[in-house]
Amino acid sequence: MYLVVLLFASALFVSTFALDNGLMQTPPMGWLAWERFRCDIDCEHDPKNCISENLFTDMADRLYEDGWMDLGYVYVNIDDCWSSMQRDGKGRLQPDPKRFPGGIRRLARYMHDRGLKLGIYGDMGTHTCGGYPGSPLDKIEIDAQTFADWEVDMLKFDGCYSNTTEQEQGYPLMSKALNATGRPIGYSCSWPAYQGGLPPKVNYTQLGLICNLWRNYGDIQDSWDSVLTIVDWFFENQDALAPAAGPGRWNDPDMLIVGDFGLSMDQSRSQMALWAIMAAPLFMSNDLRTISSGARGILQNKMAISINQDPMGIQGRRIVKEKSGIDVFLRPLSNNASALVFFSRRNDMPYRYQTSLRKLNYPTGSYNIIDVFTEKTMTLKDSTDFVVSVNPTGVVMWYVSAPAKMGLHYFFRGGHHHGSSYDKDDENSLPQLFL
Ligand SMILES: *[C@@H]1O[C@H](CO)[C@@H](O)[C@H](O)[C@H]1NC(C)=O
Ligand SMILES: *[C@@H]1O[C@H](CO)[C@@H](O)[C@H](O)[C@H]1NC(C)=O
Ligand SMILES: *[C@@H]1O[C@H](CO)[C@@H](O)[C@H](O)[C@H]1NC(C)=O
Repeated sequence: MYLVVLLFASALFVSTFALDNGLMQTPPMGWLAWERFRCDIDCEHDPKNCISENLFTDMADRLYEDGWMDLGYVYVNIDDCWSSMQRDGKGRLQPDPKRFPGGIRRLARYMHDRGLKLGIYGDMGTHTCGGYPGSPLDKIEIDAQTFADWEVDMLKFDGCYSNTTEQEQGYPLMSKALNATGRPIGYSCSWPAYQGGLPPKVNYTQLGLICNLWRNYGDIQDSWDSVLTIVDWFFENQDALAPAAGPGRWNDPDMLIVGDFGLSMDQSRSQMALWAIMAAPLFMSNDLRTISSGARGILQNKMAISINQDPMGIQGRRIVKEKSGIDVFLRPLSNNASALVFFSRRNDMPYRYQTSLRKLNYPTGSYNIIDVFTEKTMTLKDSTDFVVSVNPTGVVMWYVSAPAKMGLHYFFRGGHHHGSSYDKDDENSLPQLFL
């Protein structure tokens, strides 16, 4: 298992370099306004959807009452367009008084009363991307203190209207300023996305020291095309990106759009599965008041979440890219387990992909498999060829337990099994898994 050992070793090596605020030892989870609600400030005509305190308390109520919070979705995050166009008399940022009449501190209390957390948005340039006041170098300290005074729990720090030199100074400076407030505030840096996302322009060792998570690449949009572009970029650059991730420091491929308008159910499972493989932050950007039960089931899938939240924090990789259009991804998990994703780029019909765990570099042994989305279980020897049927633009996702010793496996064969067992190498008909 050369690959897994290598990944594990590199994770151990870099794990000493992490932002020292103790936060986000597993990828943060919650809800973020941007993709779904953008800069809708028209509360007069669109009161349910405009960026206002009501939108965030509505989402908090849903997280609290509909089981999301108990699964780990605790952050309720404001994005751009929350602030007034003017700073207050003391030079501090202030929320738009019409849309946030109670102020940010009261909104933070609303979250904390329910066990949730509040995130806010800033920008290290002269203006935010939406044209609101930014936090350039001479405003960073006062803005960090303002966020801490409001009892905010996370900051997304964007980079519009700043240049390379300013970013080199501003992102570390904000990290210091947040630390100096004494309040642990999760820190999301958009910096690498403004520098192309790759070394040598981006120094991931440094990012791990100053940020808890960072946006490497462009914004997600509500389409499968956008998800696929992001997935391709992250896995094509996995050698540069995966070693940067670990407890307290995460690559961020951007929000989950599951529950919006752009993805089919299969594509929604693909996004959830691949974000779990990537150890990505899970910030949903959708309308939790009207989400379909299908999308909810995918986002609330406990096994996908536990794979995403694995405490070792190793970012998974693509290990196979077939000419047929099937990709296989693997993420090493704690207790010698792993997650596998079989993904189809095809657009014709369910594709019957044949392989074996041995071909995927698994060591000799017998493995218990749980299909993450069907919850079916089975036992599989490394040498046994199997077939998975992968829907167009869809996935099959497995949780693969630690290998049992062969002797032990045969011992247990007489005992209690859930699901079926395939352990004859010379079968004429291959196991048809979960069809
Ligand atoms: C600030 O940094 C110090 C040293 O790295 C660390 O011990 C402390 O916990 C940090 N405090 C906060 C609030 O992040
Ligand atoms: C970046 O902006 C600053 C002003 O804040 C300016 O002095 C500097 O020349 C700019 N640097 C580059 C590389 O454009
Ligand atoms: C990257 O950042 C680290 C930590 O700040 C530093 O030690 C290292 O020299 C930097 N690497 C490069 C290539 O600049």
